Amino acid sequence: MKRGSGKAWLWFAIAILLTVSVMPLAAQNRRGRNRPIVELPKGTVRQVILNSCTACHGIDDYAYYAMDRAGWQKLIDNMKEKGAVVSDEDRSILLDWLVTKFGPDSKPFPRTRAEGPILNFGGGDTAARDAAAKRLVDSVCRTCHTLERIEVAKYTEDKWRDIVTEMRSKGAQLDPADVAPLAQYLAKTYGAN
Ligand code: HEC
Ligand code: HEC
Repeated sequence: MKRGSGKAWLWFAIAILLTVSVMPLAAQNRRGRNRPIVELPKGTVRQVILNSCTACHGIDDYAYYAMDRAGWQKLIDNMKEKGAVVSDEDRSILLDWLVTKFGPDSKPFPRTRAEGPILNFGGGDTAARDAAAKRLVDSVCRTCHTLERIEVAKYTEDKWRDIVTEMRSKGAQLDPADVAPLAQYLAKTYGAN
């Protein structure tokens, strides 16, 4: 008997099991109606998207927009400022697709309302507030850089308020009412003392 063939069968069985157990989950996610699903297109634009647009986030959110060429161009330029690399030629290929699929005459996917302030709920016990603040930092502050940026900083509450405000202007998705309580948490956790 050949060595290893038993192992190969075992791996085969494991692969089948994994596929079967993961499948229902994927199907469920696809059915979720609160978020749009955008299929990766075929053709030349596919590679452009894979090269330039999927390093930081997926493509589903494109469906929230219905913009003309100038609008999409502005958005792509915005992405370039964030670090996306797109040649002029690729940008033009991408714009053709975006305007055809998510142009001004298309129907944008409705956004569920913004969550609103999360931390600014007044009162409440400190442990619960801190846990909520930590979750906010984990979800919001990590979209553009690592948490190390935050961990090495030793700022006062005032300075943290400035930083968080600046991060909002850079695009951090944070309710204005959460700025002050978040600064308080950051000062306590990563403060000067
Ligand atoms: C270097 C990272 C990076 C790359 C590469 C990148 N993006 Fe983004 N993109 C971001 C960040 C950061 C945001 C802002 C997220 C936020 O504000 O919630 C964003 C937001 C978006 C949004 C808005 C999502 C929303 O919910 O409103 C769209 C649309 C988008 N990007 C499209 C693109 C396209 C098209 C490309 C390719 C040309 C691209 N992105 C490449 C970082 C990137
Ligand atoms: C939309 C992108 C984005 C998000 C989200 C974001 N940041 Fe930043 N952050 C940046 C950029 C860009 C810089 C500047 C990088 C540089 O100058 O090298 C930066 C720098 C920083 C720095 C270092 C600046 C300094 O003066 O010490 C801190 C601290 C920081 N961010 C904290 C946060 C916190 C806290 C959050 C969450 C509330 C957050 N960031 C969310 C983009 C973002």
